Amino acid sequence: MVMITHSETETIALGEKLGDMLETGMTVALKGDLAGGKTTFTKGIGKALQVKDVINSPTFTILKIHQGNSQLFHIDAYRLENNEYDLGISELADEGITVIEWPEYYRTYLPEEYLEVSFQYIDDNTREITFIPHGERYESIAKEMTC
Ligand SMILES: Nc1ncnc2c1ncn2[C@@H]1O[C@H](COP(=O)(O)OP(=O)(O)OP(=O)(O)O)[C@@H](O)[C@H]1O
Ligand SMILES: [Mg+2]
Repeated sequence: MVMITHSETETIALGEKLGDMLETGMTVALKGDLAGGKTTFTKGIGKALQVKDVINSPTFTILKIHQGNSQLFHIDAYRLENNEYDLGISELADEGITVIEWPEYYRTYLPEEYLEVSFQYIDDNTREITFIPHGERYESIAKEMTC
């Protein structure tokens, strides 16, 4: 289940499409290359959730909570580097939508079921984005993302 985007704007639009389908309690894990478009995609999710403040990834911020139609828990685990640090997300996750960049650095948290979205850098403006459902509730969403 692969999509190609040719600009930042297209990646935001794809994130927005996903954001429209997400339900409270769902988790999205964004994997892949540096500058692959993970934060850009998250901006689109935020747009769908009507988040008004800016979504970005300041170097030393690991968790940001945004308020929209639903809460958006945006985690960038890059700097956790696998420390078994507890952000308390497991207690929060049911109350909103969780998006995790660099989930491989936060293995202690990742729930059993989540939607994996993988970003591959093709060239300056082109990204290959793959959707892999982990768990039944993400299967139809992953399918929908590629049509
Ligand atoms: N098709 C595209 N989709 C997304 N971003 C693109 C695309 N083409 C070019 N870009 C550029 O690539 C960069 C993507 O940066 P972004 O911060 O979203 O990546 P990231 O995966 O979050 O990186 P990091 O691993 O550092 O967190 C931006 O500068 C954006 O303008
Ligand atoms: Mg990022």
